[in-house]
Amino acid sequence: MRTHYCGHVTASDLDQQVELCGWVHHRRDHGGVIFIDLRDREGRVQVVIDPDTPESFAIAEQVRNEYVLKISGKVRRRPEGTVNSDLTTGEIEVLCQDIEVLNASETPPIQVDDDNVNEDSRLKYRYLDLRRPEMQANMILRAKVSKVMRAYLDDNSFMEIETPMLTRATPEGARDYLVPSRTHPGKFFALPQSPQLFKQLLMMSGMDRYYQIVRCFRDEDLRADRQPEFTQLDIETSFMEEEEIMTVMEDMVIKLFDECVDAKLPQPIPRMEYAEAIKRFGSDKPDLRIPLELIDIADLLADVEFKVFSGPAKDPAGRVAALRAPGAAGLSRKVIDAYTAYVAIFGAKGLAYIKVNDLAAGREGLQSPILKFLPDDAIEAILERTGAQTGDLVFFGADKAKIVNEALGNLRIRLGEDLDLIGSEWKPLWVTDFPMFEHNDDENRWDSLHHPFTAPKVDSIENLKQDPGACLSKAYDLVLNGMEIGGGSVRIHTTDMQQTVFELLGIEEQEAEDKFGFLLSALQYGCPPHGGMAFGLDRLVMLMCGATSIRDVIAFPKTQSAACPLTAAPTEAGERQLKELGIRLRKPAAEASEKS
Ligand code: AMO
Ligand code: AMP
Repeated sequence: MRTHYCGHVTASDLDQQVELCGWVHHRRDHGGVIFIDLRDREGRVQVVIDPDTPESFAIAEQVRNEYVLKISGKVRRRPEGTVNSDLTTGEIEVLCQDIEVLNASETPPIQVDDDNVNEDSRLKYRYLDLRRPEMQANMILRAKVSKVMRAYLDDNSFMEIETPMLTRATPEGARDYLVPSRTHPGKFFALPQSPQLFKQLLMMSGMDRYYQIVRCFRDEDLRADRQPEFTQLDIETSFMEEEEIMTVMEDMVIKLFDECVDAKLPQPIPRMEYAEAIKRFGSDKPDLRIPLELIDIADLLADVEFKVFSGPAKDPAGRVAALRAPGAAGLSRKVIDAYTAYVAIFGAKGLAYIKVNDLAAGREGLQSPILKFLPDDAIEAILERTGAQTGDLVFFGADKAKIVNEALGNLRIRLGEDLDLIGSEWKPLWVTDFPMFEHNDDENRWDSLHHPFTAPKVDSIENLKQDPGACLSKAYDLVLNGMEIGGGSVRIHTTDMQQTVFELLGIEEQEAEDKFGFLLSALQYGCPPHGGMAFGLDRLVMLMCGATSIRDVIAFPKTQSAACPLTAAPTEAGERQLKELGIRLRKPAAEASEKS
């Protein structure tokens, strides 16, 4: 039907006859001449219909936005002064000879050229929203990213293998999406949170190197960078240690950014141990574009009268840290109150601060609600250590270390945004040497920091058991501009070690057998040392195209409440279907209590 994409017609096609198909983006009537911007996936082109072609002109007078047209015409140079250098087609226009309406359109409920439509409408009329040039560009980039990933992995002997969607729970820390089984009444499949166990089994099957661009399902609280179903680039390889895996993975990511968005990431990508990341940035996914750091000051405050500081300073599980905000002494009380409310989300009981109005003037030059509680030498030492200058503001956090890290770590990001401190460069970072376990105080047992199949950095079971809390793991995360874009590890490849880790996690022998018996069994029959990684494809594409929400790089995403306004999913199941599945619904609480 067509000779060119609308967006591909350029000055090199001058005087050529073209046939184009597309949507009416705009129609303008200019006193006797009609201009139509015809749009398709590749861009848009200006079509001119003049009254010398009366039949076409009559049709053009009737068309409205989003009509689908076929145009035949001749490419000509735009008149002097009307060139649009923002468009690749901006030097030319197509003089229409024939116009055919392939389909009409009702007035669309959202305008394709309107960038300010609310998200509910965008998702409800997604087929219109996706016509927007920005969304088309995002989808095109996403397709390219997958293509480059596949090409790289194919070239490196990785092989794409599919794994089941109807399976049993894979622990990645979220709730499962369950699917009832009709043929096994009362039983459920779980949709995979990741293909973790299958990819390990593929290594045990001798597949050597695997990858898959795969949908994963996690029923968890949604945020701007999380979806209930999302896509991973999932990878596993046999006979490689941490170092080699990280090298191959970073080589791929660097090529990806280079080929897809012409961005040069540093090679090698810098690395940082988990402990250092937490200490300096309060986070295991630090945004290194923000030049602010947490500074420990517990040693300066252990003996002060002010219990808010001295308590955590003396507590081995406590932390007292400062965060200097350069040039922020002018922040109003209202803004500081808002920050105090913000850190409270992370459990902070307050947010002490010192404004440095004039460093040379001693106490007189400072302004702070805690000054009266602190002796001169402590104040001096704090100012010196934080490097505070006149005009700066220093925030303080004192509590259990976890609370201080989360509170000041998040405040650091917020300050970076508010004070416009975020640099424009790409800042990737490998975070390594994660602790193997995190103590779950509520249930008095250990939790895995990654997942239970990650190998510890100790050579013997005895060493692991001796001090699980001190044990590090062979896990690594790849962080980019403060977002975790991928994570992986070397895996446990012996039954004994796997059983020991299950024990430490409080998974009883019987439970381990019930849930992971197939894995424990497979480990006994010649399991190669193996490891791998998974990247969040949506997050990667989101970063590459500068989108602020993961939903902008997914064709048909879910809302914050995990619903689909387009299809109105999830929906109720019919009585018959439920019966077949052997399911009876409990009455919603309100209804049940009304009846009783
Ligand atoms: P992990 O749980 O770290 O590891 O997931 C890997 C990557 O997937 C992305 N991701 C998400 N993206 C969007 N929405 C979500 N809800 C979501 N959850 C995770 C992140 C994350 O880095 N099996 C292991 C990998 C391995 O060990 O090989 C795993 O799934 O970018
Ligand atoms: P208070 O004596 O509780 O009124 O606190 C005095 C100042 O210390 C106020 O500015 C509080 O915001 C701040 N503050 C209280 N608790 C903490 C804490 N755990 N960490 C940091 N600052 C705190």
